[in-house]
Amino acid sequence: MLSRALVGFALLLHVNCKLAPVVTLNDGNLMPAFGLGTWLGTTPSGSLAPVENDEVQRAVEVAIDAGYRHIDTAAIYSTEEQVGVAVRNKIKQGVIKREDIFITTKLWNDHHAREDVPKGLDSSLRKLGMEYVDLYLIHFPFGTYPNMTDDHTDYLDTWRGMIELKERGLTRSVGVSNFNVAMLERLAAETGVVPTVLQVEISLTIQQPSLLAYCRAHNISVVGYTPFGTLFLHNKTAPPPRVDSPELVAIAQRHYKTVPQIVLRYVYELGVTPIPKSVKKSRIEQNLDIFDFELSEEERQQLSSYDQNYRSLDLSLWKHHPYYPFEQ
Ligand SMILES: NC(=O)c1ccc[n+]([C@@H]2O[C@H](COP(=O)([O-])OP(=O)(O)OC[C@H]3O[C@@H](n4cnc5c(N)ncnc54)[C@H](OP(=O)(O)O)[C@@H]3O)[C@@H](O)[C@H]2O)c1
Ligand SMILES: *[C@@H]1O[C@H](CO)[C@@H](O)[C@H](O)[C@H]1NC(C)=O
Ligand SMILES: *[C@@H]1O[C@H](CO)[C@@H](O)[C@H](O)[C@H]1NC(C)=O
Ligand SMILES: *[C@@H]1O[C@H](CO)[C@@H](O)[C@H](O)[C@H]1NC(C)=O
Repeated sequence: MLSRALVGFALLLHVNCKLAPVVTLNDGNLMPAFGLGTWLGTTPSGSLAPVENDEVQRAVEVAIDAGYRHIDTAAIYSTEEQVGVAVRNKIKQGVIKREDIFITTKLWNDHHAREDVPKGLDSSLRKLGMEYVDLYLIHFPFGTYPNMTDDHTDYLDTWRGMIELKERGLTRSVGVSNFNVAMLERLAAETGVVPTVLQVEISLTIQQPSLLAYCRAHNISVVGYTPFGTLFLHNKTAPPPRVDSPELVAIAQRHYKTVPQIVLRYVYELGVTPIPKSVKKSRIEQNLDIFDFELSEEERQQLSSYDQNYRSLDLSLWKHHPYYPFEQ
C-alpha cells in the first residue's frame, strides 16, 4: 500500500524530482493523480500499432526516473511485459519499491464471463511479473468473443468477478472504463460496490462536466485518457484547438509552459488524473512538470469553451451492442 508516510519519505529522497499529488480512492487506497499511458495507438489503416522494440520499457524507466509513480497499461495493448521489466529494473536499481508505484491494467472484452475474469488478471500478472496490480479495470462494458462477435454477458457478472479478485488480494482496487452513469448506478445498486475509478476520455473537446459531477458526488475518481485529444492532428475535419492555436499559445507563454502542459494542467484542475502517453524522454519529463503553477479563472473559461462532446476514440463499431455505453 502507498501509505502517506511512504509518499512523504519518497518526497524526501527525491528532492530533484517532483512527484504528483495523490488522491484517496473510495476504498481508502491512494492513487498518484498523474500517470503514464502505454498504448501505442493505431496505424493509419486502423489496426493496433505493433509493439516491436523496447520503446515502452525505456519510456517507463525514463518516467520513473522523472518522478512518475502511476503507469497505465491493458491486456490489449501488449505492453504489460515491457512495463513489468521496467518496474523490476527500477526496483533492482533501488529507485523505487513495488509499493511506491501504482500499476493499472485492464480486462479485455473477450474475458467478460465470470469464470474468465480471474484468467484475465492471471495472464496480466504473469506478463507483468507481479503478484498484484494496484487497479484492475473492466476495459469496456460490452463483451466480444475472440472471433469478434458480440458476447452478451452482463457486465454485472464481470463486476462480481472483479470484486472477488480484490477480495483475493490480486488487485488492490477495482474500477471500470468507458461506462456511463446508468451503468455506474446499476453496479452500485446491484452489488453495493462502487467502482474506485472510472477511466474515460477527457480532453479539451470532450470535458464531460455532468459525468464528472456525478463521479464527484459518488466519490469515484476519474482518470482521463487521450488528454491531448485533437491537439496534434493536422486534420481539418476534427474540431479545434490545435497545438499552435494563438489562444493556447498565449496562455502557455504567460506561464512559461508549453501548450501540452497547459492542457494537462487544465485536465488536472478539472479534478481528473491525466495519463498522457509518450515514448520520448523530453516529452515524458515535460508532461509531468505541471505542479508548480495554476490557471486563472479567465484561462479556465477560455479552455472550457472548446468542449463539444467530441470523442477521439471512435467506438461506433460496437454501437449495435446492448451494452454500448455512449450516445448512439
Ligand atoms: N480506457 C480506454 O479505453 C483507453 C483508450 C485510449 C487510451 N487509454 C490510455 O490513455 C493513454 C493516453 O491516451 P492516448 O495515448 O490515446 O493519447 P494522448 O496521451 O492524448 O496522446 C498521445 C500522443 O501525443 C504525443 N505526445 C505526448 N506528449 C506530447 C508532447 N508533450 N508534445 C507533443 N506530442 C506529445 C505522443 O507521441 P510520442 O509518444 O511520440 O511523444 C502520442 O502520439 C493511453 O496510452 C492508454 O494508456 C485508455
Ligand atoms: C472518498 O473516500 C475515501 C475513503 O473513504 C475518503 O478518505 C475520501 O475523503 C473520500 N473523498 C471524497 C472527495 O469524498
Ligand atoms: C464466435 O464465438 C462464439 C463463442 O465461442 C460462438 O458461440 C459463435 O458461434 C462464433 N461465431 C462465429 C461466426 O464464428
Ligand atoms: C480526420 O478526422 C475525422 C474525424 O475524426 C476522421 O473521420 C477522418 O478519418 C480523419 N481523416 C484523416 C485523413 O485522418
